[in-house]
Amino acid sequence: MKGVVLAGGLGTRLHPLTKITNKHLLPVYNRPMVTYPIECLVKAGIKDVLVVTGGNNPGDFLKLLGNGKEYGLENINYAYQQGEGGIADALALAKNHASGGPICVVLGDNIIEKNIRSAVDEYHKQGGGARILLKRVENPRRFGVPVFENGQVVAIVEKPEHPPSSYAVTGIYMYDNEVFDFIGTLTPSQRGELEITDVNNVYIRKGKLAWSELEGWWTDAGTFDSLLRASNLVAQGGANNV
Ligand code: G1P
Repeated sequence: MKGVVLAGGLGTRLHPLTKITNKHLLPVYNRPMVTYPIECLVKAGIKDVLVVTGGNNPGDFLKLLGNGKEYGLENINYAYQQGEGGIADALALAKNHASGGPICVVLGDNIIEKNIRSAVDEYHKQGGGARILLKRVENPRRFGVPVFENGQVVAIVEKPEHPPSSYAVTGIYMYDNEVFDFIGTLTPSQRGELEITDVNNVYIRKGKLAWSELEGWWTDAGTFDSLLRASNLVAQGGANNV
């Protein structure tokens, strides 16, 4: 399985910091943000990774990550997303990298405490389709939120005013190669982006989406509050521990 880290976008929720650099290069405690999702993949045994960047300072990713060896990668590729077409639009750039096989996608601002290896193992056993990782959160309104029926996820609602459950869909997703066909069928959402939630809803409609509950803490780092929270969590307990 190959990995994809999505580190594009304009990071407008972190203005003015992101006027001068890319969100994913900002510090989370003692390291640039993007190094955490890369480490998450490496710790799960996924060492061939594409970093999709965009917006400001794309060259700085190369300066930071180089050939990836320092971070435990066997191979690193880079792609550049023009404009702000959304997460699914950035993921479309991973088609060549995936070269027909499955991928594990991690959003560049997602940081976790533990290891996703068991979820990756479960994905391999399920025989194709998609797998998402869910986490119970205090305020699901900021995220994609699953609707459950008899323990199955039957829909995902993006940033609902009235959350249908107390879970967030984290930014860690596993897909088979059909994902690229599904992205091709999407139309932009109200915020003008191709939404990863719409991709997941296609898999749900086809009866091909499974889920795991993420162990340990999880946070994104795309707002001032969550960026601070991420730094504090990393300072207190580390990240990507086994
Ligand atoms: C994105 C996804 C959302 C998901 C979140 C996880 O939100 O759209 O479904 O729950 O990442 O970090 P965004 O950060 O783009 O608002």
